[in-house]
Amino acid sequence: MSIYGDYIKSVIRTVPDWPEQGVNFRDITPLLQNSAAFRKLIDSFVHRYQEMNLDAIAAIDARGFIIGAPLAYELGCSFVPVRKKGKLPFKTISETYKLEYGHSEVELHADAFQQDDRILLMDDLIATGGTMLAAANLIQRSGGQVVETATIIDLPELGGAQKIRDAGYSVFAVCS
Ligand code: PRP
Ligand code: ADE
Repeated sequence: MSIYGDYIKSVIRTVPDWPEQGVNFRDITPLLQNSAAFRKLIDSFVHRYQEMNLDAIAAIDARGFIIGAPLAYELGCSFVPVRKKGKLPFKTISETYKLEYGHSEVELHADAFQQDDRILLMDDLIATGGTMLAAANLIQRSGGQVVETATIIDLPELGGAQKIRDAGYSVFAVCS
């Protein structure tokens, strides 16, 4: 939990049964619409990562981009998008993964990182952990070093963060 975890949690909306029956969708749009809350969110990541000597922020399509880009700007790092299949124009490497509701595939440009670059990987939410784990594995395959994976929301009952830790990656969540 971060310095502003309880506050950030209080401005996230839960929409029951969306996009399908039985899913409690954690909607970050009220957080983004609240300029003070959005600033506190980015500040909580800055607070954690400003001394970590990162080379790049990698963020996952699409909601991960919303937090990854301002953090990269603030820390003076480069920004690398990890995208859904078919969106990146150059040579790519890819991994498939299972979602809470469906399957998907993430891609990375093959030249995105230099050997041993220190990378922070970001996404808005960890549910089953499949997306974050696939992206972390992609980064490792491309030669980058995943210093940590970071998210706004962890859903601990789905076991995703534990699965990512079991695979050897560190996980930071602003709130659960
Ligand atoms: C959501 C969310 C994470 C992922 C988490 O993305 O933004 O990327 O699911 O689920 P997991 O831990 O079970 O893998 P989604 O694919 O819905 O895409 P979006 O960001 O484009 O809305
Ligand atoms: N992505 C996967 N599961 C989700 C959930 N419960 N809320 C928001 N985004 C999600």
